[in-house]
Amino acid sequence: MRTEEARPVRLADYRPPDWQVDTVDLDIALDPTATRVRAKLNLRPSADGGPPAPLTLDGEGLVLRSIALDGTALSPEQYVATADRLTIAQPPQGPFALEIETVLDPSANTELSGLYRSGTIYCTQCEAEGFRRITYFLDRPDVMAVYTTRIEATKAQAPVLLANGNLIAAGDIAGTDCHFAVWHDPFPKPSYLFAMVGGNLACVEGRFRTMSGRDVTLRIYVEPGKESRCGHAMASLKRAMRWDETEFGREYDLDIFMIVAVSDFNMGAMENKGLNIFNDKYVLASAETATDADFDRIEAIVAHEYFHNWTGNRITCRDWFQLCLKEGLTVFRDQEFTADLRSRAVERISDVRALRAHQFDEDAGPLAHPVRPAQYHEINNFYTTTVYEKGAEVVRMLKTLLGAQKFRAGMDLYFTRHDGRAATVEEFVQCFADVSSADLAQFMLWYSQAGTPEVVATGSHDAARKSYRLDLVQTVPASPDQPSKEPMVIPLAIGLVGADGRDLPLKLSEGATPDRAVLTLSKPAQSFVFADIAAPPVLSLNRGFSAPIKLVVNQSADELRFLATRDGDAFNRWQAFQTLATQLLVENAKALRTGGTARTESRLTDALRAVLADGTLEPAFVALMLTVPGEADIAREIGRDVDPAAVFAARAGLRARVGGDLGAELLERYGSLAQTGPYAVDAASVGRRSLRNTCLDLLVATGHRDSICLAARQYHAADNMTDRMAALSALSLCDVPERGEALEDFYGRYRGDPLIIDKWFSLQAVIPEPGTLDRIKALTRHGAFSFANPNRVRALIHAFALGNHKEFNRPDGAGYDFVADTVLALDGKNPQLAARLLSAFKSWRVLEPARRQRAHASLMHVAIAYSLSPDVSDIARRALSEN
Ligand code: BES
Ligand code: ZN
Repeated sequence: MRTEEARPVRLADYRPPDWQVDTVDLDIALDPTATRVRAKLNLRPSADGGPPAPLTLDGEGLVLRSIALDGTALSPEQYVATADRLTIAQPPQGPFALEIETVLDPSANTELSGLYRSGTIYCTQCEAEGFRRITYFLDRPDVMAVYTTRIEATKAQAPVLLANGNLIAAGDIAGTDCHFAVWHDPFPKPSYLFAMVGGNLACVEGRFRTMSGRDVTLRIYVEPGKESRCGHAMASLKRAMRWDETEFGREYDLDIFMIVAVSDFNMGAMENKGLNIFNDKYVLASAETATDADFDRIEAIVAHEYFHNWTGNRITCRDWFQLCLKEGLTVFRDQEFTADLRSRAVERISDVRALRAHQFDEDAGPLAHPVRPAQYHEINNFYTTTVYEKGAEVVRMLKTLLGAQKFRAGMDLYFTRHDGRAATVEEFVQCFADVSSADLAQFMLWYSQAGTPEVVATGSHDAARKSYRLDLVQTVPASPDQPSKEPMVIPLAIGLVGADGRDLPLKLSEGATPDRAVLTLSKPAQSFVFADIAAPPVLSLNRGFSAPIKLVVNQSADELRFLATRDGDAFNRWQAFQTLATQLLVENAKALRTGGTARTESRLTDALRAVLADGTLEPAFVALMLTVPGEADIAREIGRDVDPAAVFAARAGLRARVGGDLGAELLERYGSLAQTGPYAVDAASVGRRSLRNTCLDLLVATGHRDSICLAARQYHAADNMTDRMAALSALSLCDVPERGEALEDFYGRYRGDPLIIDKWFSLQAVIPEPGTLDRIKALTRHGAFSFANPNRVRALIHAFALGNHKEFNRPDGAGYDFVADTVLALDGKNPQLAARLLSAFKSWRVLEPARRQRAHASLMHVAIAYSLSPDVSDIARRALSEN
């Protein structure tokens, strides 16, 4: 392994900048291989008096052409410029203007950070530290400046020129075939929010009148010919703008809001002020090209990036340790938006499923880190599910602890107190303390302690005293650099359910009865005694998943079945089923691993039959109830020495059993849910399709001929992508001739459309058969595949490593070797993408010994490779660390 390990950046070492930049004037002349950037920075010392501190600007791979201070060229002894740094040891005492000219090659930028080209389009990605690849700068979020950006290019190459803010001038450059545009953004912002775009783009326009009556122009720019696929993104944007006004009182602040869709993008989307840049996958949609899930995802991401305008842009982060301040909070906001627009229960269950499937595993493995990390080697590796999804849970707990009104008051205070500033997590939480007089000191542990807390709950009924006693014990597991932990503040929403399915009134024997039926556990062990409970109730704890914990309740299968059908809290109805099914699956996976056989449980399928028959339930909720816990859920419950093949077999067995036992009912529901009118994407139609396709999926899981034919028929007859993909995806799990035919047909239909061909790649990547690895290797040589495009790589390789547990974890280790080799091959061109792929190894330590040893060997193979990027070496080193 490499020994020269760079020093980490530490939160404890934070120092305010010595210099501030008031204004930035950029003048960018676009050229495919030699783009010229002139930057004029108005600098001023942060503190007055005293000798001026040296000025050190960040750079990365820059070529300096010229440098002048207050209009006079600097002589070579006055500065030191390397590709990665520009230092002026003795700058003037007071404010001054620094003019820097650099050149860069956007076409050679394969990292997709800084200024690069996606096809023929010029675009930028500056978060977290990409601006330093455009010009020398104080590239840190607590340096906020007002930007004016002039761009010029040939009219033929780049007829559209965009940057942040409002357009203030544009025109032709006399005597040339060039034109220019000047954009001014009046809101001070950190450099990571800078953006510019140039190219041949078509545009769809909309309008929005804000709550105070201002008219805002909305524009979505896409590749010409794709305009007809922008309607959903535009409608989503308008809904998000309105929702932020009504729910948070936040209004948009510029005259124009633009979204640009590009095909080559490392992430999903980016919230640059007034000029969001999106992966086109999260903009373009039509019934023929996108599934309902794609429509939902687009709406959520458009909303998320829009919501950053207040939580991220107007108020930004002091430093990158505070990343959850904007990301966790904004994820919370986009989750609430979706919950308000659609079904709250369905949204909560989906969010918790994702949290458990990804964040819980991260938190339990070698890559675990706190929501606010204390140190990092490579910030790009900290855009994690812990910062995002657990970060959102922490905000949600604040709301649960304080109640909706005080939460809103705290948010209002945050917006007024910190507007225009770069803030910290402490400052955010202080706003809630100030409006509620709550002491949130212990709550801060959610930001600093990694690991998923476990709560063991034991209930006992005392018939003589007519009371119910609940004993709670919490533990927080050790995690890297954190061997021992303090007890956390855990808000637990609770219900005691009576025999008739109704909640009993909650009255604590001692102390104040909690409002909103939320208990707060803050000690290692705590007991609560409820009075006036005549008969033994059924405990429903952590309702709505009020805290992101592992909850262990010693409940009988009868009690769980009761909750699954009777609990007033929809989340816990679903949870009860998950618990029942997971218990069975864990037992079966263990049995299968040791050569035994899987047990079946008819009472489980009977309970599911009741759910399926219950006409009062929303179809989307029923679909979630029918979804068997995922392989990651089962593996997590097993905890150690996991055999992914046994886990897969247990799960496949249960799915086949459910599909078989409920065959008649599933088929009946499948028929009755058939589409009657034309295709529509309203919530009711989406819910109907999701249940219908879940029925189909379970039927196909039996492998019965009739069901295979049914899926093949649906595939061919579908008039929309949701139904076509659902049929194909069910079929693709079965080794039948219909699969090959349908896959071939799919390719033929959509061969011209890379975003749809990505679905075709992903389907084949998750086939749970030994032939899959060779199939994937062959697909990497397919004409439609390219290692240079992140969407293609994610569709094929990430889908395999993250979505095909059985084949990625092949017993012979060939899956690990393939992914490790791909990481190494990608690393030279796109380190961020390579590092993300490598984090697929995050749970390798829980594998059974033979696989663990092979995964270790593959990780070592990466770790010892020559000239690794900081991104990949950071993940490799942490993944291998011993805690
Ligand atoms: N600010 C991020 C984009 C980003 C991430 C830039 C990492 C640089 C490095 C953006 O707001 C974001 O979070 N995007 C998410 C989607 C969102 C809905 C969670 C993404 O790109 O995956
Ligand atoms: Zn974000």
